[in-house]
Amino acid sequence: MLKTITPRLSKKLKHFSLFAVALTLNFNYANAQVEKEKDVKAFEFLSKANAKGFERKAQEFKNGAVVSAHPEATAVGVAILKKGGNAVDATVAVKFALAVVYPNAGNIGGGGFLIYRSAKGKIASMDFREKAPALADKDMYLDVNGDPISEKSKEGHLAAGVPGTVAGMVELHKKYGKLKWAELVEPAYQLAKNGFKLTKQQVNELNRLQTKFKQFNPLGTVFIKEEGEWAAGDVLVQTELANTMRLIRDKGRAGFYEGEVAEFIEAEMKRGGGLISKEDLKNYHAAWRKPIVGDYKGYKVITMPPTSSGGIALVQMLQSVANYPLSKWGFNADSTIQVMVEAERRVYADRAKHLGDPDFWKVPQKQLLQPAYNKNRMANLNWDKATPSAEIQAGEFARKESEETTHFSVVDKDGNAVSLTTTINTSYGNYVVVKGAGFLLNNEMDDFSVKPGVANYFGLIGYEANAIAPNKRMLSSMTPTILEKDGKLAMVVGTPGGSTIMTSVFQTILNVVDFGMDMQQAVNAKKFHHQWLPDRVDIEPNALRPEIQQKLEAKGYTFYKRNSIGRVDAILVTKAGLYQTGADPRGDDTAGGW
Ligand code: GLY
Repeated sequence: MLKTITPRLSKKLKHFSLFAVALTLNFNYANAQVEKEKDVKAFEFLSKANAKGFERKAQEFKNGAVVSAHPEATAVGVAILKKGGNAVDATVAVKFALAVVYPNAGNIGGGGFLIYRSAKGKIASMDFREKAPALADKDMYLDVNGDPISEKSKEGHLAAGVPGTVAGMVELHKKYGKLKWAELVEPAYQLAKNGFKLTKQQVNELNRLQTKFKQFNPLGTVFIKEEGEWAAGDVLVQTELANTMRLIRDKGRAGFYEGEVAEFIEAEMKRGGGLISKEDLKNYHAAWRKPIVGDYKGYKVITMPPTSSGGIALVQMLQSVANYPLSKWGFNADSTIQVMVEAERRVYADRAKHLGDPDFWKVPQKQLLQPAYNKNRMANLNWDKATPSAEIQAGEFARKESEETTHFSVVDKDGNAVSLTTTINTSYGNYVVVKGAGFLLNNEMDDFSVKPGVANYFGLIGYEANAIAPNKRMLSSMTPTILEKDGKLAMVVGTPGGSTIMTSVFQTILNVVDFGMDMQQAVNAKKFHHQWLPDRVDIEPNALRPEIQQKLEAKGYTFYKRNSIGRVDAILVTKAGLYQTGADPRGDDTAGGW
């Protein structure tokens, strides 16, 4: 690891960076000689953030880097890179390791999306999102009056979609992997068999969810603590999961979608009234899709197409703000926030109406990604007054009809890169651990629109485009993204966070491109979020200066405090060609490399 950090000194924000260095050296904030008031204010946020445990500094590596949600998974990825594996090999190994050491989201019982960019600039994206089982139907979560039975799509067996993770990893490895498959699954097998130490964050959540685990696992699961409470440092051994990992290691796809594990899944479904059958498992296939490619201030933005809404939304938001002088206004200045919030409001209105599984719904992708369209959407921005969401509808096109997630970023010594976001939807998914197979299932069915206009867990609404249908993929917000500049890899970025994923990726990119932050500062920086409905701006504590918030409230913006938004894990390529990491201090996220 190279310990000397060189912040990306942006000319315009020279003082910003100077202050960040001052913080590093424990200089007194009051003594910093800063000319521009707005920059001083911006520094205060980082200063406060530092005071609250956001003191992480960027690290830089020469030969490869991994940033993931758990130190054990990051260590597995770095070990694979060091033994000659490429970014895809490390990705597969990290993915399976996370399924063991980060069970709330890491998953083999869920799905996800990834963006790949080879050192030579070849790009690809893969959709290994869950699918609705063949027996699913449009009204499956409605009662006799047509009202949603709210918990059914969120908890328990009926909430699960057909898992895609193992199929996705097999396909990815087949196309771009270098080391042997078994070598990549082995670390996960060992971690499940021998156990790993639970972190403080993990035990807090496990203890909070004991009642749910007992309710949905009457035959027991390793997550249930029979006596007392889980404590940080307790070792979690997952014997059933180890057996499943062994089967995946030895048989690949068939180790999960056929045989013993498929039997266990079907039996679990029958026991709890779920729909996934052995036939569903056999029929599941991941899909290679053409990545979305946008442009932002000289950066090529390579991101995820539908079934995720993330990539389209990200590029729309970037296009919406591209003509405003954000760096002149400054980080979290009132004008900056107003423009970003108004962009987000309009883009999420489009998402609700137009986005869905492209295999079932004609998404007007080309129209939504026209720079002129997004520029025009901002034309009615009123500087004196927030635009009420009730006055914003999705754009109309002439066309023929036809929390808990996790993200990690990997770059290898040659410059191959993977940005991967994966999920079982909310933390610990549907709380059902498949008896005999030891892994949690997702509650991804809630990402469908269970009824037109009815909000899902994340408050997102949808319509026909995202209605439930057999074998259809539910719409996602996941936004794994890679940036390229002048034909070279520039950034690998992504985050969990449900509906806040796209806005968190959006803000992280702006933090680097417009506000000159280094990768870790960009990740640390406090976030805000607007999603059209509900009509409010969600903010992390200390995200806004009180006077800025008051100014915006006077214009009609409503603010809603949240503990945290996102867990961005990202890598930035510095001018010197080093891999600079940003591991989100909101979680146990850890950067590593060599
Ligand atoms: N389950 C959250 C998402 O896919 O957006």
